[in-house]
Amino acid sequence: METTNQENQKEIISLPRIGDQAPAFRAVTTQGEIDFPKQYEGRWVILFSHPADFTPVCTSEFMTFSAMEKRFNDANCKLIGLSVDGLYSHIAWLRTIKEKIEYKGMKGVEVKFPLIEDITMEVAKKYGMIQPGESNTKAVRAVFFIDPKGTIRAMIYYPLSIGRNFDELYRALVAMQTADKFSVALPADWRPGDDVIVPPAGSCGAAKDRMEGKDNLYCYDWFFCTKKISKEDIEKN
Ligand code: BEZ
Repeated sequence: METTNQENQKEIISLPRIGDQAPAFRAVTTQGEIDFPKQYEGRWVILFSHPADFTPVCTSEFMTFSAMEKRFNDANCKLIGLSVDGLYSHIAWLRTIKEKIEYKGMKGVEVKFPLIEDITMEVAKKYGMIQPGESNTKAVRAVFFIDPKGTIRAMIYYPLSIGRNFDELYRALVAMQTADKFSVALPADWRPGDDVIVPPAGSCGAAKDRMEGKDNLYCYDWFFCTKKISKEDIEKN
């Protein structure tokens, strides 16, 4: 059946949302075929796209992300990259990075996580990575955080010209894991070891107890109470 231009456009800009199941796909990668998200059950995944191989911002991003890969893996998180380039381009680019590029003290960087080839843009379209206002032919810099049950928990989009902050991606991952584990919320700029926010009190009585300091909490007001969780406790989990 033929599709209209408008239908095509809708497909290109359809964005999965926070709380949705991650769209499933099978793909060829630099590390063999993957069946996503089935194969990653029980692990967090950061699925991210970049506009093109052999480009400078993307090269700086891949080197930075690769240098941090162990930290993500230690936090039970796997990395998966994607661009609409083909497998041989990916392989040649990653080899060039390893053999030739020295950047900010990083040298001989081997990208060990899978990089998806997506010449047909099938996966990129499922994840709203093709955003025609920015480019019809390249993926924007999208980042999807997908939890161990295959649910999309957060996403970030950056334009072609701006490299991402990978410390922030790590911070957001640990924040989501901490929120899940301890049933808390995290305040602005939270880092492990900082105070966390406890859920609202269930009744006026409980709120009053909190305000009087009976719960070992620090309350700025009845709706804004915090407690301590040590960095060690967060790292243990
Ligand atoms: C880059 O990675 O340098 C880049 C890629 C596409 C457009 C602009 C910059």
